[in-house]
Amino acid sequence: MKIFIDTANVEEIREAASWGIIKGVTTNPSLIAKEGRNLKEVIGEITSLVDGPISAEVNEADIDTMISEAKELSKMNKNIVIKVPMTKDGIKVTKILHDLKIRTNVTLVFSVPQALLAFEAGASFVSPFMGRLDDMNASGAELIEKLVAVKQMYGYDTEIIAASIRNGKHIEEAALAGSDIATIPFAVLKKSFDHPLTTNGLKIFKDAAKK
Ligand code: E4P
Repeated sequence: MKIFIDTANVEEIREAASWGIIKGVTTNPSLIAKEGRNLKEVIGEITSLVDGPISAEVNEADIDTMISEAKELSKMNKNIVIKVPMTKDGIKVTKILHDLKIRTNVTLVFSVPQALLAFEAGASFVSPFMGRLDDMNASGAELIEKLVAVKQMYGYDTEIIAASIRNGKHIEEAALAGSDIATIPFAVLKKSFDHPLTTNGLKIFKDAAKK
């Protein structure tokens, strides 16, 4: 399972990129707003740090506006993927961009029928949100399992990005379900390095080495 980082914070991306395992970046309007910066400026900086798919989201609007925003963003760099909302117009936009050979990531996916529409529209990626489903006592893991099964059954080449990841359990569930990618916030990624038995084991080895 490929690991993407889910943030618009350039310093976090710079540090995570230095670990050598990050294959892509996802952003969304909330993450961009948190940085208090302009979308294009942030995306431009990210392209210089990570050589892999970088999702930049168009604002929900009418089809023509979303298409022209998508064209503008995709001109910036070959790695830009246009994040499109899972709406009727969003699916139309996904199909148009697919025909224009512009890659898309259909976001805010919470069900198999929604994902199926995105697969059929030729989305390059779909983003099912695990954490937000779990928050309402549904199962994010179950959704990923079902999407992987449908993808395999019909041979879709859309890549599944397990999104809205809140903890290591989500990473484990996404990996065991066969998700292509997990997009992980910096804090959750950083925690993934640690285990109390690793820390304790290191201490034991260090003490032994001193003797
Ligand atoms: C995915 O691409 C989104 O940016 C993100 O995973 C949403 O996560 P949240 O539910 O923690 O906002």
